[in-house]
Amino acid sequence: SDSGPQTLVFERNSNPVPASEREALLQNPGFGRVFTDHMATIRYSEGRGWYDGKIEARKPFNLDPATLVLHYAQEIFEGMKAYRLPDGGATLFRPDANARRFRNSATRLAMAPLPEELFVESVRALVKVDRDWIPTADGAALYLRPFMIATESLLGVKPSADYLYCVIASSVGAYFKGGASAVTIWLSENYTRAAPGGTGEAKCGGNYAASLSAQAEATREGCDQVVFLDAVERRFVEELGGMNVFFVFDDGSLQTPPLTGTILPGITRDSLIILARELGLTVREEPYAIDQWQADAASGRLREAFACGTAAVVTPIGKLKGSKHSFTIGDGGAGPVTTRLKSALLDIQNGRAPDQHGWLDRL
Ligand code: PLP
Ligand code: COI
Repeated sequence: SDSGPQTLVFERNSNPVPASEREALLQNPGFGRVFTDHMATIRYSEGRGWYDGKIEARKPFNLDPATLVLHYAQEIFEGMKAYRLPDGGATLFRPDANARRFRNSATRLAMAPLPEELFVESVRALVKVDRDWIPTADGAALYLRPFMIATESLLGVKPSADYLYCVIASSVGAYFKGGASAVTIWLSENYTRAAPGGTGEAKCGGNYAASLSAQAEATREGCDQVVFLDAVERRFVEELGGMNVFFVFDDGSLQTPPLTGTILPGITRDSLIILARELGLTVREEPYAIDQWQADAASGRLREAFACGTAAVVTPIGKLKGSKHSFTIGDGGAGPVTTRLKSALLDIQNGRAPDQHGWLDRL
């Protein structure tokens, strides 16, 4: 029963958004507010395995108030994008990597691991049905949000016996208002994101719930995003609320925090390390202390910093603010290495450059 349904049953939405309305929504979609006509769902129960896989009309769930996810947050998710290709086709980017991470997240949260083929099949099927929702504007894409919730009705604290896996899709533009311009980030000193042995490397909703007070602090301070330090020494830079971070030095080398279990292993991070090395750049996966960051920004040894992730793509970090720190990186705008890496990645994702790594999964 672990292999699940061979194909997903297709129940077309009989009341889709009219084409003219859809086109209007795609003009300026923002991030995560415009949704497509369908969703994928697959159920799981102990003993039965994966069953009832469907592509169906997007609609609300009907949940008992005792549903476990509502109480103990047994939930995981993924984030990936479908891109429009120059020939009018569409592609996913490294969906196998998201499938593997989803499985790892499930294991960490004591949830049933969805077979990786079923993950990819469900995402592909949803994008095929809703392909008209992929925006064509530069930098726009169809954001896919696979997620899984614990659905057993029970107040006992234990792994659920039942799960609902679902994929929804959202037409998106740039994650940050203002698009490609550099962001200002807030250094979180009151809050950390993840401790050793915790769930930092899993993509679970709880990590994001725990980041919201820090993100609210960042917003109050006029910043776009929050950056977290390690929970043990409160010294080493880990990642932002929803993206990984890279540093670019005056000798042309790059550095990014290592995957020690407390940060999310970003697929954008991994792809950029590969692309940077192919461009002849040195990339170190080594800890970077906040005081070093400040000193290097002041001395000019640090030239650029950027955030990266599926939603943020590659976003330059212009400034850092904190209660004890405040500095500008480089000239506060997008640096040349950041710009080059961003183009290299987007050119592959949008089919403008050859896919030498087999990263594209055409639909
Ligand atoms: N770190 C966090 C906390 C994230 O939420 C994300 C976004 O998914 C990332 C890093 C970047 O991961 P990816 O490049 O796989 O989207
Ligand atoms: C993603 O980039 O996919 C994320 O999950 C990050 C979130 C800020 C939207």
